[in-house]
Amino acid sequence: MLRAPIRPHLPLTLALFAAAAGCGPAPCPAAPEPPPVVAPAPPPPSAAPAAALPSPEEATRFLSGVDADLRRLWTHSARAAWVNQTYITDDSDQLSAAAEEASMEYLSRTIKASTRFDGLAIGADERRQMHLLKLGSVLPAPSDAAERSELAQIQVGLQSTYGKGQYCPARLKGKCLKLDELSNVMAKSRKFDELLDAWTGWHSISPPMRDRFKRYVELGNKGAREIGFTDLGALWRSGYDMSPADFEAETERLWGQVKPLYDKLHCYVRSRLREVYGKDKIGEKAPIPAHLLGNMWAQEWENVYDLVEPWKGQASLDVTKSLQKKKTGPKAMVAMGERFFTSLGLEKLPATFWDRSLFTRPKDREVVCHASAWDVTYGGDVRIKMCIEPKEEDLITIHHELGHDYYYQYYYKLPVLFQQGANDGFHEGIGDTLALSVTPGYLKTLGLVDKVESNPKADLDYLMKRALGKVAFLPFGLLIDKWRWDVFAGKVGPADYNKAWWDARLKYQGVAAPVARTEQDFDPGAKYHVPGNTPYVRYFLAAIYQFQFHRALCKAAGQTGPLHTCSIFGSKAAGDKLKAMLAMGASKPWPEALRALSGETQADAGALLEYFAPLSAWLDEKTKGQTCGW
Ligand code: ASP
Ligand code: SER
Ligand code: ZN
Repeated sequence: MLRAPIRPHLPLTLALFAAAAGCGPAPCPAAPEPPPVVAPAPPPPSAAPAAALPSPEEATRFLSGVDADLRRLWTHSARAAWVNQTYITDDSDQLSAAAEEASMEYLSRTIKASTRFDGLAIGADERRQMHLLKLGSVLPAPSDAAERSELAQIQVGLQSTYGKGQYCPARLKGKCLKLDELSNVMAKSRKFDELLDAWTGWHSISPPMRDRFKRYVELGNKGAREIGFTDLGALWRSGYDMSPADFEAETERLWGQVKPLYDKLHCYVRSRLREVYGKDKIGEKAPIPAHLLGNMWAQEWENVYDLVEPWKGQASLDVTKSLQKKKTGPKAMVAMGERFFTSLGLEKLPATFWDRSLFTRPKDREVVCHASAWDVTYGGDVRIKMCIEPKEEDLITIHHELGHDYYYQYYYKLPVLFQQGANDGFHEGIGDTLALSVTPGYLKTLGLVDKVESNPKADLDYLMKRALGKVAFLPFGLLIDKWRWDVFAGKVGPADYNKAWWDARLKYQGVAAPVARTEQDFDPGAKYHVPGNTPYVRYFLAAIYQFQFHRALCKAAGQTGPLHTCSIFGSKAAGDKLKAMLAMGASKPWPEALRALSGETQADAGALLEYFAPLSAWLDEKTKGQTCGW
C-alpha cells in the first residue's frame, strides 16, 4: 500500500526537503515555520464575510493558503504516524491521534469554507483542487470536538492493535507468533490442522476491534455527511472522475470481464488441492477452505504453486531459494528494485531514503509491519516501511512499494492536492507494472534463476505462477470494499458483520471459513486495510490497470512478442512514457493520465486476458468435463 490513513495519499513541507537535499534548478521555496508539537488549527484562509461574493482572486488566495496549511498539517501527521508505526507505544498512539485530529479539524472546516467558491468561474486547475479538497481525507471527522477526538483515537488504536497482533498458543508456553511467522506457516505447511491452527490463531486478534470498528463506522459516516456525502463509502467512490454509482457499475463491468478466467483457475486449483487434502476436506461443488491457499486471506495463491504446477521438471522458478542461497540482504533486495527503475532512466532514490526507511522487523519493539511507502514531507522525503525477508514475495512487494515512492518523486513539486495518483488504482499499479517485467529472463540477469527455458510448457508454468498471484487476487480485491460499502451504507449492520463478510468471500472468491464463524468473531479486522482504514478497490483496479500499462510500455519499448515474455527492463522509451504519467499526479482526470501512457481512455481488462490467453486455453482443456463453480 501507500500509507493512507487520513487522506488518500501521503503527500509535503518543502523547507525540510530543501534543507536536506537542495532544491535542484528550481528556486527554493521560502522555509515555512517549523510545525508546532500539536499544530493549532489555522483559520480558514479565506474567512471573508459570508455575504460577499468571492472573486476568482480570492479563490486563488484560498487555494494557496490551503496548500501551505495542508503541507504543514499533513507533514506533522505523517511524522507522528511514522514514529507511531515504527515504534508503537501508548504515547506514540496519542501523539499520532492528536496530529490526525488537527488535520481532521482543519479539513472538515476548510471543505465547508470552500463551498462558497462552488459555481464560481475559475481555472480548470483550481476547480480540480477544490474538488480534490473535498476528497482530501478518507476519514473525515464530525465537527463535534469530542467525537472527532474519539474517531482519531479509534483510527490509530485499530491500526496499532493490528500491528501488535499475535497468537500465543498454550503449547508454546508463553512464546507468541506474529503475522510474519504465521504467514510462513500458511505458505509452507501442507498439514490441514497446522494450517488451521495458524489461521484461527491470527483470526483471534480481531474480535477486540469489533466495537471500535462499529463506532468508527458511525463517526466516519457522520463526518462524511457533514461535508455532503451520503456516507463514507460514497466519499470513497467519488475519487474516480465519475459518480459513485457509475464507479460501482464500472467495477462490475471489469469484474465481468475477468470472472470467467477466475472461475476456471478456481476449478483447476480446487481439483489439485482435492488430490492433496482429500475429498472429505474439499467436496465436489464446494468452496475451497480459506486456509489451504498458501496465504492468510487466500488473496494470492503463489505459495501453492508447487501443488498445482502444470509441468514438472521445467526451469526452476524458485527465486526464494536463490535469495536465501545467496544470502541476499534486505537492502540488496531494495537495490535490485531501484535498479529496475533507474534502468528505465528514472532517478536514483535520494540518500535519505536509505537512512530513513525501515527494512526489517526490529526485535525490541512493536511496529506495523504491513508494507507501505511514504513521502513524509510532501517534498521528496520518500521511504518504505517493510519487514523484508529473503523471499520472492517480498522482492515483488519491494517493486510495488518503490512504485509509490517513484510516483512521489515525480510529482512532489505539484500543489499538494495534486500529489496523488491519477486515481488510487494508478498509484497501486505502478510498481506492479514493473514487476510484470521481472520475467525469468530478467531474473537470470540478476543471477536469481539458473536457466531460462522457452517452450510452451515452461510458459504455462510461468503463467500459472503469475495467475496464482494476479488472477486469484481479483475477487478479493473487489470484495473487501463491496463489504465496506454495504457496511457504510447501513445495508449490513453490526449484527451481521461477520456473516456478510463470509457471504462476500463465498460469492466472489468461492472460499469458505475452515471452521464455523459467529458474530463473536470479526474476521474483516484480521486483514490490515480494515483496521488500517485503507480503501481497497484500488488494488482491484491496479490488478487490471497494470496489464494495460505493461502492454503500453512494452509497445513503447518496441517489444512485439507475447505479453508475458516482455520485459521493459532497460527501456528509456518506456521510462519516458512512465515519467510523463507520474509527473501529472492527480492534476488531470485519470483518463488523461491513461492516455499519456497508453493512448487509451478506458479501463480495460483486455490486456490481462491477452497476457493469460495461453493459460486460459490450457485451463479450458484441463477443466473440461469437471464440475466447476461452488
Ligand atoms: N503492497 C501491499 C499492499 O499494498 C503491501 C503488502 O503486500 O504487504 O497492501
Ligand atoms: N498489498 C495489498 C495487500 O496486501 C494487495 O496485494 O492486501
Ligand atoms: Zn501499495
